[in-house]
Amino acid sequence: MTEAPKKLYIRTYGCQMNVYDSERMAEAMGGVGYELTDAPEGADMILLNTCHIRERAAEKVYSELGRFKALKTANPELKIGVAGCVAQAEGAEIMARQPLVDLVVGPQAYHRLPELAARTRAGERALDTEFPSELKFDHLPARPRPRRGPTAFLTVQEGCDKFCAFCVVPYTRGAEVSRPVARVLAEAEALVGQGVREITLLGQNVNAYHGEDGGRALGLAGLIRRLAEIDGLDRIRFTTSHPRDMEDDLIAAHGDCAKLMPYLHLPVQSGSDRILKRMNRGHTAEDYIRLVERIRAARPDIVMSGDFIVGFPEETEADFQATMDLVAAVGYGQCYSFKYSARPGTPAAERPMVDAAAADDRLQRLQALLTRQQRSVQDAMVGREVGVLFEKPGRMPGQMVGKSDHLHAVHVQTDLPVGTLARVRITESGPNSLGGVLVD
Ligand code: 5AD
Ligand code: SF4
Repeated sequence: MTEAPKKLYIRTYGCQMNVYDSERMAEAMGGVGYELTDAPEGADMILLNTCHIRERAAEKVYSELGRFKALKTANPELKIGVAGCVAQAEGAEIMARQPLVDLVVGPQAYHRLPELAARTRAGERALDTEFPSELKFDHLPARPRPRRGPTAFLTVQEGCDKFCAFCVVPYTRGAEVSRPVARVLAEAEALVGQGVREITLLGQNVNAYHGEDGGRALGLAGLIRRLAEIDGLDRIRFTTSHPRDMEDDLIAAHGDCAKLMPYLHLPVQSGSDRILKRMNRGHTAEDYIRLVERIRAARPDIVMSGDFIVGFPEETEADFQATMDLVAAVGYGQCYSFKYSARPGTPAAERPMVDAAAADDRLQRLQALLTRQQRSVQDAMVGREVGVLFEKPGRMPGQMVGKSDHLHAVHVQTDLPVGTLARVRITESGPNSLGGVLVD
């Protein structure tokens, strides 16, 4: 007699890499008799895939865990696990502080999850926050679950060796590693076989990708060119990049690889050379602006995106003005901006904080400028013809929503199905999306 499948509930926080990792964990657990469920109630196992990048991340995890107490009382067989970057950073402490938790698994150990889960079923508490020498992706099942949409993420690189002074990633995700080219191609082909038409290559430092292809080194541009040869794959994107790894060939690919979409997330964090130095970024504001010019020379209509931190220790009003000047010089289509907050264990955490009110005020001014820029980049799309890949029905009857080449959400009146890549003329620009009509 075969056992009824156990139910696994995964809640995912944070970045796209966590979304990708959650899918891989679901696949791995699928291999040992767990199927995904949409609600924690009735689950046999609850897994929180956590993010450590935002302020008070660990506290939020503890309060989230506390809410599962009633479920565990009702079902003592319920196993509760914590994965992701909070698990990596605070694994042992989570075990000590929250007796509800049966399992802690760090991002580099996900391929061991089925074995850890088996240990919890035997009554143990299991913790694995090692950085094993083997690559987790080489041990996770290469059998993607049936997909719902025409877009997918594919992790090609993980970890970071840059050690920006504010960032936990080098500690939680570990040193920079790349997946072999053949594995990436095989996974991409499998996704395309399931109807995926757009793949976003993921990595904390994705443009530091250094794969190996038949004994030959291959960078991200080379990988993209190989992926572009796959029939049925229409669009390629990648995120997140570091300015220092933006090599010539990758810039060139934005000009000559038609499947590579005209959108680039290239965080700069600050426009002040003094602060960039203290952040250990390894580039100046001028380096970044020149770089954006070269990228635009290759692909004039590229939409630039970035991340900013305001109120980094010792940031003065003059430093902040330099950030505003950089933003004005670049002209961003989309940005994320944050108030600095200290992450224990990072070098910047030891330094004196900027006055909180000043930091709030700077964040507001920066966000106002970024919002204006975003809107003007969006408005400039009106009248242009772009590709739109339909991802789901819109709110209005007979409407589809998808992303343009430039990653704008676009609403179109059409009865074409999800997964269609259509030519669309943009006719209107709203606060957060565009409207358009099919071009025949
Ligand atoms: N404080 C504020 N923002 C941060 N980020 C990373 N660490 C911190 C921190 N300690 C931001 C950076 C990064 C983005 C993912 O999160 O801008 O690019
Ligand atoms: Fe963190 Fe990105 Fe800097 Fe790496 S490059 S340390 S991931 S901010």
